[in-house]
Amino acid sequence: MADNLEDLPGVGPKAAEKLIEAGYTEFMAIAAASSGEISAAADIGGQTAENIIQAAREKLKMGFKTAEEIAEKRKEIGKITTCSKSLDELLGGGIETQAITEVHGSFGSSKTQMAHQLAVAVQLPKAKGGMGGSCVYVDTEGTFRPERIMQMAEALEMDPKKTLKNIYIARAYNSDHQVVLAEKAKDIIKEKNVKLLIVDSLTAQFRSDYTGRGELAPRQQKLNRHLHALQRTADVYNIAVFVTNQVMSRPDILFGDPTQPIGGHVLAHAATFRLYLRKSKGTKRIARLIDSPCLPEGEAVFNLTTEGVRD
Ligand SMILES: Nc1ncnc2c1ncn2[C@@H]1O[C@H](COP(=O)(O)OP(=O)(O)OP(=O)(O)O)[C@@H](O)[C@H]1O
Ligand SMILES: [Mg+2]
Repeated sequence: MADNLEDLPGVGPKAAEKLIEAGYTEFMAIAAASSGEISAAADIGGQTAENIIQAAREKLKMGFKTAEEIAEKRKEIGKITTCSKSLDELLGGGIETQAITEVHGSFGSSKTQMAHQLAVAVQLPKAKGGMGGSCVYVDTEGTFRPERIMQMAEALEMDPKKTLKNIYIARAYNSDHQVVLAEKAKDIIKEKNVKLLIVDSLTAQFRSDYTGRGELAPRQQKLNRHLHALQRTADVYNIAVFVTNQVMSRPDILFGDPTQPIGGHVLAHAATFRLYLRKSKGTKRIARLIDSPCLPEGEAVFNLTTEGVRD
């Protein structure tokens, strides 16, 4: 629902129009933005942008809250089942809204399969572990397969056609395009009861667009901004964000597992939950929870079958 921006002191019809045109249709979106962003996007002076942001924050009574109020906000958090009990348990009940969940692992470790599974599972009713919502899927590698969605939907006794209709796909051809699509996704999110936003893969396009050593810093900065935008979307619209990531091998590690996720500290800080997936024998996969604000580290074993992700 769009807010009436002219309710903000200092925002006249003209400024409201500019803000709406730039995609700032809600107090929350304005309150969470920086003055630089707003002044660039809506062609408004820096000081005016700052005043508008402050007004939006006042309106939303942002600032310090008691822990009890935080607990209230967290009550709105929804969870989406991965369709594996052991994996759900590891994650404290499934993947959460208002958070970014990242999975990394080598090729074939089932990252894309898990993304497909969640795109289906989010549509299940609450009683069955879903959120009765739809999904936005940003596909950067061209590996989205509608056939696979239909197969997974049938396995859950859902209507395959309807299931496909509730997944909005966009193919991102480079990292700039990916960033723009993540912004554009908000339009669909507002209209279509979206509860899950997937980016598969989060990092692949960044990696191929910024190859040289000297480009690492600009790449990381851009990735950081992208992740902040995703987190904001997760918070503002109370949706889950699920991103996949590759691993690279580190020749300097002699003992233990020499693989490490792409994205470095930027991603480590931005992801609320991080899962490391490993292939085991046949259909068996092992997931390790490596970073979570309130869950212990641990492992879960699941199977990747024709039906999808299962115990
Ligand atoms: N219809 C299916 N039934 C059973 N298993 C399948 C099916 N489709 C794909 N798989 C399995 O999924 C695995 C591929 O997993 P996935 O594509 O999710 O890997 P990934 O982690 O995304 O890898 P990448 O890094 O290359 O993107 C393969 O091992 C394949 O056996
Ligand atoms: Mg993949």
